[in-house]
Amino acid sequence: MKRLDDFRLRMGRHELVPIVIGGMGVDISSADLAVEAARLGGVGHISDAMVKTVTDRRYKTKFVKAKQAQFQYNVASQDKSAVKFNLEHLAEATRLHVEGTMARKTGSGLIFINCMEKLTMNGPKETLSVRMRTALDAGIDGITLAAGLHLGSLALVADHPRFRDAKLGIIVSSLRALQLFLKKNARLARLPDYVVVEGPLAGGHLGFGMDWAQYDLATIVAEIVGYLKQESLDIPVIPAGGIFTGSDAVRFLELGGAGVQVATRFTVTRECGLPDPIKQEYFKAGADDIEVNQISPTGYPMRMIRSSPGIGDGIRPNCEAYGYLLDANGKCDYITAYNREVAAHPDQKRVSVMDKTCLCTHMRNFDIWTCGDSASRLKETSVRRADGTYQLLTAQHVFQDYQFSTDGHVQLPEAEALPA
Ligand SMILES: Cc1cc2nc3c(=O)[nH]c(=O)nc-3n(C[C@H](O)[C@H](O)[C@H](O)COP(=O)(O)O)c2cc1C
Repeated sequence: MKRLDDFRLRMGRHELVPIVIGGMGVDISSADLAVEAARLGGVGHISDAMVKTVTDRRYKTKFVKAKQAQFQYNVASQDKSAVKFNLEHLAEATRLHVEGTMARKTGSGLIFINCMEKLTMNGPKETLSVRMRTALDAGIDGITLAAGLHLGSLALVADHPRFRDAKLGIIVSSLRALQLFLKKNARLARLPDYVVVEGPLAGGHLGFGMDWAQYDLATIVAEIVGYLKQESLDIPVIPAGGIFTGSDAVRFLELGGAGVQVATRFTVTRECGLPDPIKQEYFKAGADDIEVNQISPTGYPMRMIRSSPGIGDGIRPNCEAYGYLLDANGKCDYITAYNREVAAHPDQKRVSVMDKTCLCTHMRNFDIWTCGDSASRLKETSVRRADGTYQLLTAQHVFQDYQFSTDGHVQLPEAEALPA
């Protein structure tokens, strides 16, 4: 019986343990988690979602306050089109985040950054260009293009000195999305270094409609592996979504995958950026406590724990401070939904908005508990303490469980010593 450790993920001159910890926005896949993945010989991700908030927390910068102060005059206005990002601040925040992470990197693994196209930031092209260029300048090993088709993203950095040396990959959920990406980028004469194929059981946003349950990761992976073979394209394929044990992972490598991307099992590690009480919510969640809904203003379905405090909350849009989801015209579906509710309930002090959520504010406050379908099994991966809480795991424990386990087995951690 094979173990994941019997395989290696080859990317250029790198030979990696074939485990990629996926990007989890607003510092859930923290620098601590990414550094551990690299130390253990795999691939870790940081994310540049709400990077100003992340650096304000980690490096005591004041980027959010500065933006809020600059646009304070606009808070009561429904028109957010004037609320633009200061590109120098955006670059500085990205540089701090990436350099701070890369300075701590040890081991033979790699650290990538997850860049979501749906973070349109009231200026999609210029902000994405700054995000990608600065990450490359600051020494990131690679960029994973996420949450979008990214038809023009590679061209934004085609003249960067590291364009051909950094690892650049994309997340897709269908062969069609990959074909479009390859076609649009053909003139750059640069293939992606890897393709993450994310199926319908993943956490975060889904690249499917609300008919997601009709799709199956293994089928999509087989289709994409077959297509790349037929076209003689040598691009490592990395399946993701619902891969819970080392044996699940081995099955995907035997199907032609080069590695796997996993995330949900790492949400209950010490290194994960979620606050500890929320990690307990992830442990406790049962299958019925998890839903896929359409409250994300990005337009993509999103999977989350039903009791997430951000669901149904009617907070005033906070675009002056954040504004990451404002489209090219300064619009966001949450603003529309919020204004509709305020107009319908003029006497109410605080409205409730059920159909959309202010994702910036709520992800910043860890009030939307997004997770993969397999979160309902997290309780199987740890030990319950006498007080009913679950023992947190180390990233090393979870990583090595994927790497070495067989027969669908999940290794429990050693029970921690009780306080004297
Ligand atoms: C808490 C959480 C947050 C996530 N955030 C992002 C994100 O910001 N960007 C992204 O591309 N994928 C995101 N994902 C998806 C993961 O990177 C990964 O591809 C997927 O969840 C793998 O499936 P698994 O969780 O079943 O292992 C997130 C997943 C989780 C669990």
